Amino acid sequence: MMRVRTPLATVLALSSAAVLLQPGASHAKRMVIHDEDIVPPSFALDGAALGGPRAPTGADLRAPAHLAGGTIATLADGALVIDPDSGDLVRLDLRGNQLARLTIGRDAAQLVVDRAARIAFVTDRRGDQVVVVDLAGAEPTVRARWSTPAEPFGLALSPDGATLLVTTVADRMLVAFDTKAGTARWRRPLGPEPRGVAISPDGAQAIVTYLTSAAVDRIQLADPSATRSIALGTARAGAPVTAAATVEAIDGTTTGRRFPRNAFAARFVGNQLAIVPHQVSTPLQESRFGENTGSYGGGFEPPVSHALTIIASGDTDLPRQVSAQIAIHQPRALAWDPARDRLVVAGFGSDSLLFVDAASQAGIRHVVDVAIGDRSCGPQGVAFGDDGDAWVYCAVSRKTARVALDDKRVAKITWGPPVAATKLTELEHLGFDLFRRGNDFRLSTRGAMACSSCHPETRTDGLSWRIERHELQTPVLGGRIMGTHPYKWDGGDADLTISLTSTMKRLGGGGLRKDETRALAAFVEGLAPPRVPTRSAARVARGKTLFASAELGCNSCHSGARLTDRQSHALSGTLATVDTPSLVGLAASAPYYHDGSAATLEALLADRGLVHGMAEVSDLTATQITDLVAFLETL
Ligand code: HEC
Ligand code: HEC
Repeated sequence: MMRVRTPLATVLALSSAAVLLQPGASHAKRMVIHDEDIVPPSFALDGAALGGPRAPTGADLRAPAHLAGGTIATLADGALVIDPDSGDLVRLDLRGNQLARLTIGRDAAQLVVDRAARIAFVTDRRGDQVVVVDLAGAEPTVRARWSTPAEPFGLALSPDGATLLVTTVADRMLVAFDTKAGTARWRRPLGPEPRGVAISPDGAQAIVTYLTSAAVDRIQLADPSATRSIALGTARAGAPVTAAATVEAIDGTTTGRRFPRNAFAARFVGNQLAIVPHQVSTPLQESRFGENTGSYGGGFEPPVSHALTIIASGDTDLPRQVSAQIAIHQPRALAWDPARDRLVVAGFGSDSLLFVDAASQAGIRHVVDVAIGDRSCGPQGVAFGDDGDAWVYCAVSRKTARVALDDKRVAKITWGPPVAATKLTELEHLGFDLFRRGNDFRLSTRGAMACSSCHPETRTDGLSWRIERHELQTPVLGGRIMGTHPYKWDGGDADLTISLTSTMKRLGGGGLRKDETRALAAFVEGLAPPRVPTRSAARVARGKTLFASAELGCNSCHSGARLTDRQSHALSGTLATVDTPSLVGLAASAPYYHDGSAATLEALLADRGLVHGMAEVSDLTATQITDLVAFLETL
């Protein structure tokens, strides 16, 4: 089952043609592309596996599921689900039927269950709190609410249940709560767009994952100041990868820089390994056949693929790691069953699961890819039951499924009813479904890209994509679309339907039906802006005054509710004219400008403002720049 990957250079994937003529060569050479090269292998380990010689023992074998949170957890007599759409926490019996529910709040993100203590912790993403839920009685009840920095998301509970780790998105913090006292023991800053967190079975360390960084953080829990950033390697098998937050490009081969992205979750398995599922994006491809101007990335291979990176966590500063290319789309969540040393990974975009056996051993084996059988599932959470069945929570259909693998690796799937009703309109809900769909030929070349591949959680991947000979930065969508037409950086698309149609065409997709495009538009228009970080009110007020001042004149162009005049301006840069962007959600949209040339808002104001000729900012003092940035970050 295990396939060792052929060198990338020999794998040339093309959308339609199977034979290609190499232009420019005097004796045009015929290249034959084999079918097996076009279809991505479902599990291809890039080199020798890491891990121990045998199955987990000791602390590994006793590793509780609560070492990393998710949207579903199993109980001895059923399961508990947090449904972000409705904001409901729902208790299910072993058949997936509802027993009881408790409203947490819309966008609630994750839960972890301490089975021994019969409590659950839930992140209330909009309410900036962790809700502590008592599971002892028939109905779940709120035992306590702990305030967190803005926008709590990921959860992990230490093996002994004494420490709860919480990541927060807008305020970029990792907070460790003492679960007895209900108070914060320590907190430390994180990078932009943190999401998942996982603790090792021995309780010694934790890993935090990110959407827009090519690295994960490793924190020693005995000394949280000893945090290392570990670049996710996607090419060099088993070799240490230089650890530095700024190291974005891992693979320097001719296929162009490859950026790990969208790491929503991590999980430690036995034998001191941590597993991080993620996406790999190649926004600027190099091709021997010239530039493919009709594609995102400018090349001929799909610019988005998916991987599991396995990190040897016991190692020193430069841990060994290895990657496996996987065929499931947008791996979003994972669970590990210590008794069977089996891993399951949920493919959010492909409505499928990936099972891996001997996950912590050198004899790692791919078991099977299982299609869920519901094209509108959107697997967002997975957990193992005590009997070894995998439970799946579908974010789109809001149903749960139990998946049992028999000895022949054939899956038996048992569905439960939807756990809650959606709060979206019917049209928006269809748009939500379409937005995350991978493997859909109508949206992109061979379905390699979904909207959420580059706009994870409808935000930005922080990359500038090669499109029609320009590098263009992916914009944040939430809060920026309604009433801001025309669209795209050059303001070339008069309305949203035109813009979405042109996007699908550029992505190489066949296009959606009219009503489906309308649904996608309704979803995108209805999105809330990203949450803003907490900033000093005095600074924000001073920044606001500066922004509106006649000297700076920012609001002569950034005007109205969404801070855009919807006009194009001839600034310097690679585009002749640029449509004034909305400034909503700026804190979540780095880097800045159409070409991503300003890494931070400070950089934009300190020099790039002048370089682009956008505004005269050279007289601003350092304090004024700090004030203005504080204001901009809260838009
Ligand atoms: C490969 C990465 C990628 C994918 C996939 C992708 N986008 Fe984008 N998106 C971008 C980039 C880059 C831009 C800026 C392009 C430009 O201005 O010409 C953009 C621009 C947009 C805009 C215009 C925003 C504005 O304010 O002008 C919308 C709306 C949008 N995308 C929605 C979508 C939807 C819906 C999908 C799925 C059909 C999608 N995108 C798929 C990268 C991507
Ligand atoms: C002449 C009209 C104009 C004025 C005046 C102006 N801007 Fe802009 N602003 C633009 C345009 C056009 C862009 C896009 C430029 C590009 O991408 O190259 C932009 C981009 C930006 C961005 C980056 C947005 C993103 O998502 O990448 C920020 C932040 C910004 N402006 C803030 C300001 C501030 C602060 C001021 C006042 C000091 C200001 N602007 C004055 C037109 C203007």
